Amino acid sequence: MLAALKGLLGHEALYVALQKGLGADRLRYRCLDELALVDGDTIIDVGCGPAYYFGRLPKVRYYGFDTSEKYIAHARKRWGGDQVEFRCEVFGEQHLGQIPPANAILLLGLLHHLSDDECRHVLSVSAKALAPGGRVIAVDPTLVPGQHPISRWMSKNDRGEYVRTPEGFVALGRETFADVDGEVVDDATRIPTSHWMMRMRTPALVPDTTDGPRR
Ligand SMILES: C[S@@+](CC[C@H](N)C(=O)[O-])C[C@H]1O[C@@H](n2cnc3c(N)ncnc32)[C@H](O)[C@@H]1O
Repeated sequence: MLAALKGLLGHEALYVALQKGLGADRLRYRCLDELALVDGDTIIDVGCGPAYYFGRLPKVRYYGFDTSEKYIAHARKRWGGDQVEFRCEVFGEQHLGQIPPANAILLLGLLHHLSDDECRHVLSVSAKALAPGGRVIAVDPTLVPGQHPISRWMSKNDRGEYVRTPEGFVALGRETFADVDGEVVDDATRIPTSHWMMRMRTPALVPDTTDGPRR
């Protein structure tokens, strides 16, 4: 039953409706506000899904990546245009020469779908893709002591297989970025949820993951 419900979320219109119904859109808008984007910025959105928050962006040059063809087709149809590219590809080193240095990279609801090695890969490529002063923002369901039982249930039963504690997310971020901080957001959605919003700046040691994540 739960698996069937999660499967339905692969349907792009249902996913968007549920996100907006739950108020998860407000969580995305909070992340965008954090970035204080301006017209002319270059943005990379990894795991963009249908990118239903696209309308909140200023006039940016935008590159969205997702592995779901359905989500990408939906996003292209809804938001495609000048200076906007949606690609059904895993974001990797091969894109670095094709995309201008990014002022901001969005990882909204992505890292909890990725194993540690897959996270290392996307964070490493992101670090290399940033313009000087650029920043990365991630937001994911999390597990924290004392969270509301409904919030805990939501985090434990998420579609993503790698819901982590804030410390777990931060440890991954610090492998690649010198400046990592964040906060638990538990007041954005209409039902109790807890998300870790994580800001990453200043690429430090950028591990070479040219061959993709280790398996
Ligand atoms: C929870 S959805 C988030 C979508 C969108 N960013 C949002 O906030 O609504 C996670 C997305 O990550 C995508 N995804 C999972 N693994 C990926 C990968 N390795 N590269 C790119 N996208 C991936 C999924 O297809 C899905 O659209």
